[in-house]
Amino acid sequence: MKLKPLVTGLALAGLLMVTVQTAHADLTLHNAITGEVLDLSFAKKGGNTEQFKQFMQTGKNPYNGNKEAVEKGKSLYMTGCSGCHGHEAEGKLGPGLADDYWTYPLNETDKGLFELLFGGANGMMGPQYVNFSNDDLLHIMSFIRDIYTGDPKKAKWLK
Ligand code: HEC
Repeated sequence: MKLKPLVTGLALAGLLMVTVQTAHADLTLHNAITGEVLDLSFAKKGGNTEQFKQFMQTGKNPYNGNKEAVEKGKSLYMTGCSGCHGHEAEGKLGPGLADDYWTYPLNETDKGLFELLFGGANGMMGPQYVNFSNDDLLHIMSFIRDIYTGDPKKAKWLK
């Protein structure tokens, strides 16, 4: 019996399956401060929309540049973020969010910004999953990108 080709064939098939699985795997998200894997089971109910699923595959926020989404994001921002970051995200208790200076440069990507919002940062910047669903967070993120006043070259999320 010719075992060797069979073994090689099986190994190849295995490799192929692994490749296919990785291609469909969701992103793994990490806490911006501790680096621990974020447990998305804490997420508020109702936020697992098609758009969020898409984000989990691509790391890109599908709401960016979508007028309606930006408007909704703005009103969510006004209820949950403006008290600390200012009505125009100019900075108050927390830093400004509209310029191109980030304490945490990971915010230059949508994946990084989501990770920071979901898991929080230091001090008064607590985890935002407490107040907002994952889909809400994507809306708020689209608003933050919309009011960006920084150098367009540094807008990594557009690339
Ligand atoms: C209770 C006050 C408070 C609230 C509410 C709050 N933040 Fe913050 N936020 C802070 C503080 C303080 C920091 C600085 C934390 C640090 O440096 O680790 C911060 C940091 C951040 C950062 C990192 C900025 C950078 O330069 O890297 C982002 C992004 C952010 N907040 C977005 C939001 C959004 C969006 C909301 C609403 C969903 C929100 N925050 C709600 C106080 C707040």
